[in-house]
Amino acid sequence: MGIIRKMTAEDIDGVLKIERACFTAEAWPRGDFEALAGEESGVIASLVYIVDGKVGGYISGSCICGELEIYSVAVDPSLRRKGVARALIGELERLEKPATAFLEVRESNSAARSLYTSLGFWEFGRRAGYYSRPDEDAITMKKEYKD
Ligand SMILES: CC(C)(COP(=O)(O)OP(=O)(O)OC[C@H]1O[C@@H](n2cnc3c(N)ncnc32)[C@H](O)[C@@H]1OP(=O)(O)O)[C@@H](O)C(=O)NCCC(=O)NCCS
Repeated sequence: MGIIRKMTAEDIDGVLKIERACFTAEAWPRGDFEALAGEESGVIASLVYIVDGKVGGYISGSCICGELEIYSVAVDPSLRRKGVARALIGELERLEKPATAFLEVRESNSAARSLYTSLGFWEFGRRAGYYSRPDEDAITMKKEYKD
């Protein structure tokens, strides 16, 4: 079992390895993760899951006025279906205490859609042609939190 903590500059090589394995054509560049890891405003949160001293997964998002936007969550292919993404989302929710959360997901990404649905998100819309390489619609998902 690993631990979840804030992303730091030392984590970026491990994060990029997972990012490139998961998102190939549309992987975020190093500079985006450097900005996330150096973020001090308190608006943007980025967390890593560390196991055996290595990054096994990460999540990023921002929370403004109780509205959490999840940007990305990804888990090393060798660690999937062990509850890592569920734990990362749970920790982000615990830290940010949102009233609502939103995200977009590729229509074909059935693993992620199942993950979010299992955590109480529901699908409320579609953004036509939101993604490129390959072109695809986004499904928009939302969750509301009770006090
Ligand atoms: C989607 C992703 C983050 C899930 O990570 P994970 O750590 O394997 O997910 P968890 O083990 O926490 O799964 C929690 C629940 O989500 C659902 N789920 C996760 N992966 C699933 C899959 N491949 N098929 C069906 N349901 C799945 C299940 O309900 C699962 O609970 P269960 O294992 O008890 O049945 C991972 O597959 C990944 O990194 N994919 C590539 C990156 C990506 O697409 N990110 C999302 C961008 S929007």
